[in-house]
Amino acid sequence: MPLIPSFQSMIDNFFLKELKNDKGLESVDSTQAWINKNKVSIENFLEEHGVILFSDFPVKNAENFDHFVTAFNFETFTYEKSLSNAVRINKTDKVFTANEAPKEIEIFLHHEMAQTPIYPHRIFFFCKSTSEKGGETPLCRSDHLYDAIYRENESLLKNFEKYGVIYNSIMSDGDELVSGQGRSWQKTLGVKNKNEAEIKLAQLGYEWTWMQGNNLSVTTCTFEAIKTLKDGSKSFFNQVIAASLGWKKSSENEVSPVRYGNGDEIDLSAIELIAELANSLTFLRSWEENDILLIDNFRVMHGRKPFSGSKAREVLVSLTN
Ligand SMILES: [Fe+2]
Repeated sequence: MPLIPSFQSMIDNFFLKELKNDKGLESVDSTQAWINKNKVSIENFLEEHGVILFSDFPVKNAENFDHFVTAFNFETFTYEKSLSNAVRINKTDKVFTANEAPKEIEIFLHHEMAQTPIYPHRIFFFCKSTSEKGGETPLCRSDHLYDAIYRENESLLKNFEKYGVIYNSIMSDGDELVSGQGRSWQKTLGVKNKNEAEIKLAQLGYEWTWMQGNNLSVTTCTFEAIKTLKDGSKSFFNQVIAASLGWKKSSENEVSPVRYGNGDEIDLSAIELIAELANSLTFLRSWEENDILLIDNFRVMHGRKPFSGSKAREVLVSLTN
């Protein structure tokens, strides 16, 4: 037995709190009872670490996972009513696939739905089956990222604080499965036709242009780029990394996917600095089957590494307030 904990375990403890089923819980019912009894301390761990890994719990499928999430009694955040741009498939009322984007596509670090006015507070991920290679979920604390950007370039952070950010995205006419942001405008906005879409967009305070093939270019209203958390710390809460690196530019009007709220472009050097700092703070752990991650979406970004192999990677998600 080593006297000094391994480097890996120190990293693990720094980034995430692991709660192992060492109590011999064998059924979903006994797991639910355990969650009820320990809910306050689990929430405290989440506040402190930003991510909790539950391992070896008797959760094997979407229904078990639904019951696991239900035991926390958090308010459900439904995919259907969200303005999420990812294509997902519901497995139960509150459990759906994480993203239907093809396996070779990387989903860059992001806060779930931070590019919209409504976003979940907590994210549960459940690994039903692992991929042969890759497919990790990178995790990065945005309170630490805020501090790191502050140290490197305070005026850059001040720009984000002063102006906030706006996003431009292309919503396709019907789902587009080859992209990580392929949800149709009909489903994203919850509408049936162009007229209803325009009413919804006006309500949101968004601007829009119809493009060739009935695709829709949408520019959001201004959102704050920094979030103050319950403990007073600040989180770089936005979609700057994922939108800059992963979203496609509108080919018709060449609008960048993310800009400052006053319409100014964010310098490429600034984006590179932020991505590099985030990368240096990123924790990458391979999934093990039946792992469950609980993530504080206000404090921690997540993503998805590309994966390969013939085995299907199946990671399910459930969102709550
Ligand atoms: Fe996500």
